[in-house]
Amino acid sequence: MIRVVILISGRGSNMASLLATVEAGDLPARIVGVLANRADAAGLASARASGVPTGVVDHRQYASRDAFDTAMAAAIDGFAPDLVVLAGFMRILGEAFVRHYQGRLINIHPSLLPAFPGLHTHRRALAEGVRVHGCTVHFVTADLDHGPIIVQAAVPVVDGDDEATLAARVLAQEHRVYPLAVRWFAESRLRLGDGRVLLDAAQDATGALIVPHAAGV
Ligand code: GRF
Repeated sequence: MIRVVILISGRGSNMASLLATVEAGDLPARIVGVLANRADAAGLASARASGVPTGVVDHRQYASRDAFDTAMAAAIDGFAPDLVVLAGFMRILGEAFVRHYQGRLINIHPSLLPAFPGLHTHRRALAEGVRVHGCTVHFVTADLDHGPIIVQAAVPVVDGDDEATLAARVLAQEHRVYPLAVRWFAESRLRLGDGRVLLDAAQDATGALIVPHAAGV
């Protein structure tokens, strides 16, 4: 059983999907703590309801990003995690922080990276008229939204989509791929080697690409 700490800033639906997968006995991991940078992050309540210890490291209490990073790292390390999972965590983490967790810090991003790093990914995908959109789980490096890619899920963009319908279609896939990536890590099939993802998913029919709607929406 690996020890997992999840960092959130808001709703926490990805956190909830990970918790549900663990509770269902489908993930050889223990969520040992959930940390947020805002006391009003809605996901904190659902973590507590599941009996998971929570904590808040409020970025507004710190004069610099480094000071915040140091405090957050201390809170994380208090849980002695094997893996740190960013799930809708909306702060940019500095180089020293990222280096400290190298190979055991992952993020989910709501686009098919390297397309649409940063914010408002669904709006931008619609504005560009892409026909395929999706989400990406990747190792975190100092380069924002550019770390080595672990798994992606693609969804179609369909006529009549707006930001909300597209976001919902992508989010449903986020809730599949994040538990999958954590499972691979927990089963020692996934690691970061020399800036590249080493994934022993050869026996896994899903591989590292999921195209759930290939045969229609
Ligand atoms: C997700 O779309 C995630 O990819 C992005 O922020 C959103 C967080 O949603 N980084 P939730 O808090 O997990 O519900």
